[in-house]
Amino acid sequence: MMEKMMKVAPFGKPGYTKEDMLAMEPDLLRALMRERTHHTIEVPFYSLLANGKKDAIPAFGLQAQMVFDVWKSRNLPLDEPDLLWVQDYLAIAQKVRNGEPVIWNEKPQEPFTEDEMKVVEKLIYGRHSIRDFADKPIPDDLIHKILEAGRAAPVGCNLDEVRFIVLKKPEELNMIWSDIAVRNAVVIVIAYDTRIPKVIGQNITVPQNAGFDGAAAADHMLLMAHALGLGGVWLSKMAKSDFTKDTAQEFKDKYGLPDFIGIACHIAIGWPANQTIKSKRVPLNRMIITRDTFNKKQ
Ligand SMILES: Cc1cc2nc3c(=O)[nH]c(=O)nc-3n(C[C@H](O)[C@H](O)[C@H](O)COP(=O)(O)O)c2cc1C
Repeated sequence: MMEKMMKVAPFGKPGYTKEDMLAMEPDLLRALMRERTHHTIEVPFYSLLANGKKDAIPAFGLQAQMVFDVWKSRNLPLDEPDLLWVQDYLAIAQKVRNGEPVIWNEKPQEPFTEDEMKVVEKLIYGRHSIRDFADKPIPDDLIHKILEAGRAAPVGCNLDEVRFIVLKKPEELNMIWSDIAVRNAVVIVIAYDTRIPKVIGQNITVPQNAGFDGAAAADHMLLMAHALGLGGVWLSKMAKSDFTKDTAQEFKDKYGLPDFIGIACHIAIGWPANQTIKSKRVPLNRMIITRDTFNKKQ
């Protein structure tokens, strides 16, 4: 079966041979393995469960297995979290192919208790943008917690193309222009490796995903910062020069990033210096639109 299947073909791509994958840059091969695991095992597995595995195809999971076999033959690491996740799904796929039962040890999640909900509400409804920071050191372990929260955010097609650049030194902070005074702050630039969506074809099929992934990471990090007593704000423009230009390019040039690194956004984090008036949203009934909303007579 494996010999017959010559190519690993993500959507919209003619496919990669074993030789292509042996020569592929490891970060890109890893993304291909994650994507194939996600789209050919993880996602269809739940439809199989829902319909009693009636639609299981004999080659279920073999695309991902082929990428993993190349990965392993290149002596690349096997014990990092996403690689263990891949191996868990490969084991499930093998059981499905063999017609063996798949025993599920994970318990379905429970609703939060009332006390837990109070914490969630405090977090979600308490977060607000902070634009003025106190002159107080920001411990590295708190920044680490914030970055970990960004790492946990949802990511389109499980590609993991998001990258973080942590700016702390004044000379690095000065590489970014902002409409707020970015002092006493750590800036986290949320970037992404544009080579990763390209290798899968997602730059054509879902080009918006890389920016969305960066946005999801930014929001997770701002929530974690709030929980830690820090505050932060989402920032967009990186240079003042000319608002019609890609201001991220100016930062990339100053910082020395390669062309294939894209920038989604950046956030400034620090200890809040002042009380703020919390911004309020329009009422929910104005946010919800239906097919009648724009047909009503005013
Ligand atoms: C995509 C995006 C871009 C933003 N850009 C900036 C910015 O450049 N400067 C700034 O001070 N705030 C910026 N913000 C923060 C918003 O102004 C802020 O979230 C909004 O006013 C709501 O206030 P709140 O965050 O306190 O709830 C941005 C937020 C988002 C989501």
